[in-house]
Amino acid sequence: MVEPRPELSKLSDYVPGKSIEEIRERYGLKRIVKLASNENPLGASPKAVEAFHEIADSLHLYPRGDAPKLIDAIAKKYGVKTSQIVIGNGSDEIIDMVGKAFIRQGDNCVGITPTFSVYKFTTLSNGADFIGVGEGEVRTSLDDLAKKIDGKTRVVFICNPNNPTGAYYTEKEICDFMGKVPQDVLVFLDEAYAEFATASDYPNMAAALDRFPNLFVNRTFSKIYGLAGLRVGYAMGSVEVVRALWKIKPPFDVNQAAQVAAIAALGDTAHVEATCKMNAEGVELLTREFEALGFKVLPTQANFICVRIGERAKELVTFLESNGMIIRGLTSFGMPEHVRVTVGKPEENAFLLTLVKKWCEA
Ligand SMILES: Cc1ncc(COP(=O)(O)O)c(C=O)c1O
Repeated sequence: MVEPRPELSKLSDYVPGKSIEEIRERYGLKRIVKLASNENPLGASPKAVEAFHEIADSLHLYPRGDAPKLIDAIAKKYGVKTSQIVIGNGSDEIIDMVGKAFIRQGDNCVGITPTFSVYKFTTLSNGADFIGVGEGEVRTSLDDLAKKIDGKTRVVFICNPNNPTGAYYTEKEICDFMGKVPQDVLVFLDEAYAEFATASDYPNMAAALDRFPNLFVNRTFSKIYGLAGLRVGYAMGSVEVVRALWKIKPPFDVNQAAQVAAIAALGDTAHVEATCKMNAEGVELLTREFEALGFKVLPTQANFICVRIGERAKELVTFLESNGMIIRGLTSFGMPEHVRVTVGKPEENAFLLTLVKKWCEA
């Protein structure tokens, strides 16, 4: 037998949100709503869809691997140099590239927990240890995180707002933290949900990149821009860090449909605003209604809410699925009593609440 690298024995499979097809096959239902993967319920920006159709005639051509137009558009939006930006096939791939470029066998990486599982996956698959700080609902303090950094630490992962809790760190907290991190440790600040944040002290860390050469800010087109199926992520940091990632980046990973759609989506502020407005209203409604049913809802700055259901959380998830509503149980995040619900369109939120009330009354 051909043996894989020994590090792989430590890895568990990624657990994605269940798909609509899966639930349709299992329960034979017509109407299925998925509020499990933090996708944009309004879909992609119409301008992105138009750009996607327009590219159909040149699908036989390779994309420009260096994606100059997309990089330029991102640079203009954030006021950073084009040499400070890297793109990837979703930010998943950027995390993977960070692992390949910076994490060595025997190193460690530190991160708040519970959080997005890909940080740990990347760390372990590169032969390093993952030191998670925090558990459950408690918002880990960045001081506690800083204390775990030692001579072997290569990368610190911070998800802000955090998936799955929705908690966030302020600009002051992040800047104070950066002051405690040695310059040779990369801080991977994952801002996948940043555009949904409404708190006035939510940071603008892209503007602080010149002050912190070891800060690396990650964003994605999968959430607010509704392009999860096309796979485009981007990250910004110092020229040196970015250059290292371009070296190991697969040459044609971000396809041309993804590139043109992402450029169009960046320019579609109306779609972004409509999404944010609907999200803020949905957060308010879902929070109020779940609380009225006696459940604890964690404050969120993202496009999802984390709800403590209690011991019967798994039962609720199964009940909802059998009625055509997919949400995310959080056992794989180490929070078996909680669920994560993506904020949907008003009618989707209403459908969810009707089912949850039915379950509570049963
Ligand atoms: C915090 C966080 N980072 C990154 C990703 C991956 O996003 P992408 O679709 O860009 O790979 C996700 C996806 O759910 C996420 O929740």
